[in-house]
Amino acid sequence: MKNVLSWILIAFLTISLLNNCFSNSVQKEIREKASFLAELRTLYSSGDASKWPKPILDPDARPYFSEIGHLPEIQYPSDNPYSEDKALLGKILFFDPRLSKSEQIACASCHDPELGWCDSRTFSFGHDRQLGTRNAMSILNVAYARSLFWDGRAASLEEQSEMPIRDEREMNGHIDLAAGKIAKIKGYELLFEKAFGDKAVSKDRISKAIAAFERTVKSGTSRFDQFIDGKAEVYTDDELMGLHLFRTKAQCMNCHSSGYFSNNQFENIGTSLLGSKEEDLGRYLVTKKPEDAGKFRVPGLREVTRTGPWMHNGSMATLTEVIQFYSRGNPEHSQKRETVHQGVTLSSEKSGFVRLLDLTDIEIAQLEAFLRTLSTKPERVLPPALPQ
Ligand code: HEC
Ligand code: HEC
Repeated sequence: MKNVLSWILIAFLTISLLNNCFSNSVQKEIREKASFLAELRTLYSSGDASKWPKPILDPDARPYFSEIGHLPEIQYPSDNPYSEDKALLGKILFFDPRLSKSEQIACASCHDPELGWCDSRTFSFGHDRQLGTRNAMSILNVAYARSLFWDGRAASLEEQSEMPIRDEREMNGHIDLAAGKIAKIKGYELLFEKAFGDKAVSKDRISKAIAAFERTVKSGTSRFDQFIDGKAEVYTDDELMGLHLFRTKAQCMNCHSSGYFSNNQFENIGTSLLGSKEEDLGRYLVTKKPEDAGKFRVPGLREVTRTGPWMHNGSMATLTEVIQFYSRGNPEHSQKRETVHQGVTLSSEKSGFVRLLDLTDIEIAQLEAFLRTLSTKPERVLPPALPQ
C-alpha cells in the first residue's frame, strides 16, 4: 500500500514539475514575442526608415528598389505645368461623355471616384456595352506611374488620354472629332481661355488638361503613413507583423517598392494564361521582345482594397487569394509552356522572384491586414456640372 502511495506521489511530482517547465517555456515564448513586437513597433514608427530592419531583397531587384514610405511630391512635366484652371477643365472633360461617339461614355464611367477611380468590374463595359479584355486600372496616384496601362504602351498621361477615346470597345470616337464637338460647346470657351490663355480648343489642349487633372488624383494620408510618422498606436500587432513580412519573408518588395509600392518595372508573375482563350501576352504586345511575353507593369498597392477584382484580367476576387497565390509561388503558372502568336513561338517565363514562400494562414492574414492600411477613406467627388 505504502509503495503504491509513494509511486502516486512520485508521478504527481513529476507531472507538476514537467507542467511547470512547460508553462514557463510557454510564458517565456509569449514574453519574447511581445518584446519582439514592441521592438518592431518602436523601429517602424520611429519616423526614420534607416532604423527599420533590413529588407530581404534579391540582388537582381536592388537596382530598381527604393524603400516604401510616403508618396513624394507630384512632379509636373515642364511642357504641362499645373494650374488650378487647367486641372478644373481637365476634371470637367474627364466627366464629359460628349468625348465619346455615343455621347454616353465618359472617362469617369470606367474610372468612377466612388469605386476607387476604377469600376469594380472584372472587365469594363464600353461602347454599346461591349466588354473590354482587361481590368480597368484606378487613376489614383497615376502621377507616379512611369508608363501607363498594364503593358506600359503609353509613355505619358498626355499621350494616354486619347487612346480610350479612340478605342472601339471604349469610347469608339476620335480625339479630332471629340475636339470638334467640344469646340462647339459655348460653355467651354471661358474654361479653355482661363486654362490656356485663349479659347481655342485642340486635341493637344484636351489631353494636357485631362493629364493635369489626373495628376491631382492622389491618395491622402493612410494609416501606414501615420504609423511610420510616429503614431505607434494606430497599428494592431497583425498589421505591424504584416508590414514586417511584406519587407522580409514574403519578399513583396522585390517588385512592390517605393512610396508608390511599385518599382515601375514589368514582371512576369505567371498570369498570362498562355495557350488559353484568355491568353494575354502583356508587355510583349508592345515591345515584341520574346522575353517580355507575360510581363505586366507592377501595379502600385496604395488603395488596393478599393481596386478589386485584382490583376490585369480581374481574375482574383479577394486579397487572400492574391496572397495565397504568392505564398505557393504560383506553381502552375500556365496551362501551356508555349504559344504561337502571329507565327512566333513564345514561352512565358515566370520571374525568379515568384517562389514558394510557405506563409502560414496567420501570416497570410497579417499581410492582408497590412495591405488594408494602405487604403484611405474614399472622399466624395461629385461630378462637375457640364458646360452647355
Ligand atoms: C470603357 C471603360 C474605360 C473608359 C471609358 C476609359 N478607360 Fe481608362 N482604362 C480602362 C481600362 C480597361 C484600362 C486598362 C487597359 C489596359 O491596360 O490595356 C484603363 C487604363 C487607364 C489608365 C492607365 C492607368 C495606369 O496606372 O497605367 C489611365 C490613365 C486611364 N485609363 C485614363 C482614362 C481617361 C483619361 C479616359 C477618358 C478619356 C479613360 N481612361 C476612359 C477602361 C476605361
Ligand atoms: C516578381 C515581381 C512581384 C512580386 C515579388 C510581387 N508582385 Fe504583386 N504584382 C506584380 C505584378 C507584375 C502584378 C500584376 C500582374 C497582372 O496583372 O497579371 C502584381 C499584382 C499584385 C496585386 C494586384 C494589384 C491590382 O491592382 O490588381 C497585389 C494585391 C499584389 N501584387 C500584392 C503582392 C504581394 C502582397 C506580394 C508579396 C507576397 C507581391 N505582390 C509580390 C509583381 C510582383
